[in-house]
Amino acid sequence: MVLINPLLPLFFLSCFFWVNHAASTERSTYIIHIDKSFMPKAFPSCHHWYSNTLDSIKSTSSDKHYPQPKLIHTYDNAFHGFSAMLSNEELKALKNSPGFLSAHEDGPITPDTTHTYKFLSLNTAKGIWPASEYGKDVIIGVVDSGIWPESPSFKDEGMTEIPKKWKGICQVGQDFNSSLCNKKIIGARFFNQGVVAGNPDVTISMNSTRDTSGHGTHVASIAAGNYVEGASFFGYASGTARGMAPRARLAIYKVLWDEGSQESDPILFAGIDQAVADGVDVLSISLSYRTIDLYENPIAIAAFGAMEKGILVSVSAGNRGPNFGTLLEGIPWAVIVASGTVDRWFSGILTLGTGLTITGWTMFPARATVRNLPLIYNETLSACNSTESLAEAPDGSIIICVNSFETPEFSDQMGYVSESNARAAIFISEDTSILRSTSFPFPGVVITPKEAQNVIKYASNSSQPTASITFQHTILGPEPRPAPAVSASSSRGPARSYPGILKPDIMAPGVLILAAYNPEVSAAYIGSNNIALSSDYNLVSGTSMACPHISGIGALLKSAHPDWSPAAIRSAMMTTANPLDNTQKPIKDMGMDYDIATPLDMGAGQVDPNRALDPGLVYDVTAQDYVNFICALNYTREQTQSIIRSRYNCSNPSTDLNYPAFVALYDPLEERSTLTRRFERTVTNVGDGAAMYKVKVKKPKNSSVTVSPEKLMFQKKNEKQKFYVMIRYKTYREYVINHGSITWVEERGKHTVRSPIVVTPAEPS
Ligand SMILES: *[C@@H]1O[C@H](CO)[C@@H](O)[C@H](O)[C@H]1NC(C)=O
Ligand SMILES: *[C@@H]1O[C@H](CO)[C@@H](O)[C@H](O)[C@H]1NC(C)=O
Ligand SMILES: *[C@@H]1O[C@H](CO)[C@@H](O)[C@H](O)[C@H]1NC(C)=O
Ligand SMILES: *[C@@H]1O[C@H](CO)[C@@H](O)[C@H](O)[C@H]1NC(C)=O
Ligand SMILES: *[C@@H]1O[C@H](CO)[C@@H](O)[C@H](O)[C@H]1NC(C)=O
Ligand SMILES: *[C@@H]1O[C@H](CO)[C@@H](O)[C@H](O)[C@H]1NC(C)=O
Ligand SMILES: *[C@@H]1O[C@H](CO)[C@@H](O)[C@H](O)[C@H]1NC(C)=O
Ligand SMILES: *[C@@H]1O[C@H](CO)[C@@H](O)[C@H](O)[C@H]1NC(C)=O
Repeated sequence: MVLINPLLPLFFLSCFFWVNHAASTERSTYIIHIDKSFMPKAFPSCHHWYSNTLDSIKSTSSDKHYPQPKLIHTYDNAFHGFSAMLSNEELKALKNSPGFLSAHEDGPITPDTTHTYKFLSLNTAKGIWPASEYGKDVIIGVVDSGIWPESPSFKDEGMTEIPKKWKGICQVGQDFNSSLCNKKIIGARFFNQGVVAGNPDVTISMNSTRDTSGHGTHVASIAAGNYVEGASFFGYASGTARGMAPRARLAIYKVLWDEGSQESDPILFAGIDQAVADGVDVLSISLSYRTIDLYENPIAIAAFGAMEKGILVSVSAGNRGPNFGTLLEGIPWAVIVASGTVDRWFSGILTLGTGLTITGWTMFPARATVRNLPLIYNETLSACNSTESLAEAPDGSIIICVNSFETPEFSDQMGYVSESNARAAIFISEDTSILRSTSFPFPGVVITPKEAQNVIKYASNSSQPTASITFQHTILGPEPRPAPAVSASSSRGPARSYPGILKPDIMAPGVLILAAYNPEVSAAYIGSNNIALSSDYNLVSGTSMACPHISGIGALLKSAHPDWSPAAIRSAMMTTANPLDNTQKPIKDMGMDYDIATPLDMGAGQVDPNRALDPGLVYDVTAQDYVNFICALNYTREQTQSIIRSRYNCSNPSTDLNYPAFVALYDPLEERSTLTRRFERTVTNVGDGAAMYKVKVKKPKNSSVTVSPEKLMFQKKNEKQKFYVMIRYKTYREYVINHGSITWVEERGKHTVRSPIVVTPAEPS
């Protein structure tokens, strides 16, 4: 069955194919890469050729009842090839067909939300918003779980006419008609043939672009949500919601389904491929793919095609942190985004009968009445370690719970008090990670042991101690912890796909981010029996939330500098990123007990959109440079061509990509020795005219760094200059990560262009 839709552009009809899927247990879904130059002239389109190829291999099966091989998708934009359900035998036959490059079996994808933490502090960026007209006319393709189109974040108030270059459609589906698209959501498509192919008996519960999880809605509104006054998470984080690029357009590609992420490659390829064809400017991909090799990673392969067309691709780093080397897919031609905390905290105010007030931390999702209630502290009860012991807690009291190594975990204590007759609880804990969870089903506040001293004294030594708690307060600032800090779960470099290029590239807010949500999905729970509450806006955490910040900021940069390549935009963000937190100290790592974060945790640092608007110099990379890079990875010809296709020209292989970062790898198992790593870089002057820069080096410990020349003179805009860097360091048979930076400082000018240096083992111990 071919899907006929009058709005489909022609190539869609010729290269895109839907089939009826018969049950087949012996087959798996494969993604097949084809060298299109082998296509015989006789075929009017790639689709005909691929179908014919499949027809020709089916005869190899002698069993009449054996179903035919199934063509699922044809790809012709981000790469050439198709996906199909094939048996082993058919795959073998296919491998001998002309033009065959590679085949790999489909693997699962996962969304990057951890659903435990949340929140967003919007950058009230003065410079870049007006300079970019808030991202006007830039189209951000969001490849995710779809969208909740009725969310106020996707109203099109204030939006101008849809850009003429747009070629996409608003695909009609279940509970989704074309009038749900507007001047904000300009495109919507869904891809689930892979899900159906992998499991023909499956019932797709929402066969349309409508989001049933909330993930895609959240991500899309972070990137480009419109202004919405009075948004909040049950009274917390209240204010005017808006995306990073509030005037940018959204094109939605649904590839994540409740029915499972199996057989995800075909839909992932199809989604990205279609976005490229539709004419998006930025691709936002908050998905993880569990594979290391770039030639097997559908996101990496499809992103290469997107990059060639000038599309900026932003991908989440993944939530596998905090250990070294947990970042698998460090795609060199994409921006890989790490997740950091925000300086916003959610609190409750505790007032003792004496009038003393203490600001505690809470996310209890309602305005509970806790006024002048008896305050209970005694050693047996306050362990809060079982339902039985807490049965003794007096009716309608506030019970003080001590949280320590000897007591149950915070969430268990919360469970026990919920089942008691107490009305509220005061938790004493030093564990600040509690402040990053939105799960707070019982009315209460968390205070520190230091703050607790006065409370305990009052509770144990007064005849009738009482206390009150108010909820739904929001606090900004560096207390109790400076921000940003790298989120513990954010995946860490070096990237397993290739450790010699810095990944992640950059960090953006990804902890407790407030953004639009599916109002039919629960956002919080209260009470011992978990009453589910819903909200139009939810606080969610993960690199999934960090990625669309970069997509939105990338859209702003694209709007302000339409001539910049994706690499120039990434360079602008990286060289202006901030390595310091809001106390002007180096950014810390939540996952490593608040030790100083390294570039392997956060890339160049926290994105600074206003500075990125005017970076002074950029490290540009062309598609041919990436080809040269891939050619140096010692892949087979077929593996290489899976990514770079007909651009195959390995005349000049080099892993020294013109990247705004320097990674010097060492083998800690090697005998003590001094190593030397050399780098060549070219910077382009994107400032207004003539400029002179002088280098400033902060060398990593036990290393020496030489930069030559030390001064760069530019006569005019867009002029390029080359320089060389030599890093020498000694190894000590130890796993040590040392880092520093190379900064080009403009003389008599305002620009500083900073690149991180990392000296690191390539692999985990
Ligand atoms: C989903 O909808 C499309 C058309 O909107 C239809 O072609 C397809 O068969 C449907 N798929 C399922 C699994 O219902
Ligand atoms: C689309 O759906 C909305 C509500 O779901 C309905 O109000 C509207 O009339 C529909 N439009 C068309 C063109 O069917
Ligand atoms: C609970 O804590 C009390 C006081 O510390 C202790 O005596 C008791 O054994 C603990 N009970 C459990 C089940 O851990
Ligand atoms: C602690 O509270 C329990 C239950 O109310 C009570 O039985 C016990 O006597 C109290 N202990 C002290 C030391 O007050
Ligand atoms: C309560 O008061 C008594 C006597 O003043 C003192 O010894 C004791 O330490 C106090 N308890 C607390 C918890 O402060
Ligand atoms: C590729 O192989 C050559 C020769 O074995 C080796 O020197 C080089 O380091 C390899 N490159 C990579 C990226 O592994
Ligand atoms: C390969 O690229 C080099 C320059 O990078 C060029 O000189 C050469 O002609 C190219 N070869 C082919 C076959 O395209
Ligand atoms: C620097 O080198 C010394 C040995 O000379 C070693 O003991 C020390 O751990 C190294 N420091 C770092 C930060 O690598």
